[in-house]
Amino acid sequence: MLVGKNILLGITGGIAAYKTTFLVRLFIKAGANVKVILTESASSFVSPLTLATLSKNPTITSFIKEEGNKTDWNNHVELGLWADLMVIAPATANTMSKMAYGTCDNLLMATYLSAKCPVFFAPAMDLDMFNHESTKISLDKLESFGNIMIPATTGELASGLFGEGRMAEPEDIVSFIKNYLRRGLPLKDKKIMITAGPTYEAIDPVRFIGNHSTGLMGYELAKAAADLGGEVILILGPSNLSPKHELINVQNVISAEEMYDKAHEYFGNSDITICAAAVADYRPKNAATQKIKKKQERFSLDLVKNKDILLALGKLKKKQYLVGFALETENELENAKAKLKKKNLDAIILNSMNDKGAGFGGNTNKITFLDKNSQIKAFELKTKAEVAKDILNEILIRLNA
Ligand code: CTP
Repeated sequence: MLVGKNILLGITGGIAAYKTTFLVRLFIKAGANVKVILTESASSFVSPLTLATLSKNPTITSFIKEEGNKTDWNNHVELGLWADLMVIAPATANTMSKMAYGTCDNLLMATYLSAKCPVFFAPAMDLDMFNHESTKISLDKLESFGNIMIPATTGELASGLFGEGRMAEPEDIVSFIKNYLRRGLPLKDKKIMITAGPTYEAIDPVRFIGNHSTGLMGYELAKAAADLGGEVILILGPSNLSPKHELINVQNVISAEEMYDKAHEYFGNSDITICAAAVADYRPKNAATQKIKKKQERFSLDLVKNKDILLALGKLKKKQYLVGFALETENELENAKAKLKKKNLDAIILNSMNDKGAGFGGNTNKITFLDKNSQIKAFELKTKAEVAKDILNEILIRLNA
């Protein structure tokens, strides 16, 4: 959720400021770009050098910027515009009061007043300060302005007292922000299971029957679903691809039987299931336990049919929106419609081998989306990333209808 996001972290003068080094580290680990503004008093609690090193950007404290013999200024308007989100942590009683009344006496406050992005603030103070009427007024005012409070917790305070006012822990601040960003996304609260890639059916310990699928279509579907806020289970056959997204749980499998078992493990809990895998239709009846030697002139394999995962899921289907793929060479629409019916699907994605750039192997695909109500929508040749978005969009249209 935070990959590529510009985060402006404002640190004010409270003891909890020491925890912001961990916060910066977590933001950077999550893929965000971070700039830090410190108030004068915050720099007594946490070192600007540490924050600059961790954030990979100079720490900013004042309006005036000295560079050699050149004097410049830190432009609060530009900083505010740079930010996709601003986080003020710790937010002391003093800073919250200034934010509530627009007191603009330092660079952080000028930047806060200039920022157009969502502003999160994590209060931190002693319990009596926290419970003071004026603090409550500041909190209410800040929330009424649309600022988002990351609630303080109850625990031991720096004063030795026990009560409310501890700044949320850095991990909790990060998860709070991620959950907030996920809030408005269309697939939030939805679980999406995707099968992808080829399967390898063992002949002996070193050989297998496989196919040329790279898993790219399923990988792009997983990424697109996660970007829309969905919680994704990607059941992936042997593939070089490995999505790094906190909402994608990758379950690696090798054979069709393993994929069948994993799909059944997660299907019951899913809201949407998309079977994009190029599952091997047959497997050697008995895989040799030792490497087969080339003694015979002719060699034949006894193959048995693999179970059809999608067909089996179609029989189990209750609340799930179930989508399959059909790769066809002739009578495309008829064959796809027949598969949709036979496998009890809600929709099927047709790839025609007659279309240049469609199917597996490449970076592009050309699909036709068919649903169980006989609605048919054909798309242009697009990258698989764009195709994935189109597919999810079609599913969402139908789920929200
Ligand atoms: N599929 C599956 N398990 C299998 C075979 C296929 O889950 N053992 C799924 C694929 O992931 C795809 C759909 O079924 O979503 C269509 O697969 P395809 O191989 O094109 O069609 P089949 O139904 O196997 O029919 P045929 O190969 O005869 O065209």
